[in-house]
Amino acid sequence: MDLVKAMGNVEFTDADRERILSLSPFIKENSGKIIDEVISVVAKDERVLNILEKNGITAADAKRAWMGALEMLFSEPMNDKMIERMFEIGVVHVDKEVNEELVIEAMNLFMLKTLEALSAHMEVSKELYFAVVKLFAVALSAMITSYSKEQERRREALLKSLGISGRLLKRHIELGKRYK
Ligand code: HEM
Repeated sequence: MDLVKAMGNVEFTDADRERILSLSPFIKENSGKIIDEVISVVAKDERVLNILEKNGITAADAKRAWMGALEMLFSEPMNDKMIERMFEIGVVHVDKEVNEELVIEAMNLFMLKTLEALSAHMEVSKELYFAVVKLFAVALSAMITSYSKEQERRREALLKSLGISGRLLKRHIELGKRYK
């Protein structure tokens, strides 16, 4: 399966890939600064702070993980490896009970702070701008898709362990609603 096509049908051309790859050295050099900007925003967010504290994650740990993810997006733009890695990262977040909306908000910040850093450094063409937006949109789709897949897998594992079929459970829920 073409994983990139499966992620929201975003049209990403070879020229887009070249545009993103040409930014990879800049991103490697500046990922620390970009992530610091992201952290300066989320560091005020109680929801994020609570999850980090609950999992014993320091700001330095979070910075390292986020820098690695950002650099990977620009060095492996829109190939199956990138999509699979974003799936895996998504599964880790389901496991750590990070809500989807936090992931969406964080990805939007990644995109915004990256575009700000780029435009402070160079003239960003319309084509380059669109390529960056597509890259983050697809990365987010992959992460969020892994949420629904992982939740479905867990639901099925639970039903199996209870010895209940999905159809039977649905029927119980419907009956429950009728007699409420
Ligand atoms: C753009 C969105 C995000 C990206 C790209 C991202 C990236 C990552 C990466 C690369 C890892 C390491 C995964 C692995 O071990 O394979 C990770 C782990 C983790 N992230 Fe995120 N993250 C994002 C958003 C968030 C948000 C909003 C939170 C909320 C606090 C969060 C909390 C965590 C936690 C708790 C872990 C597990 C760390 C551990 O136990 O080792 N992440 N993240």
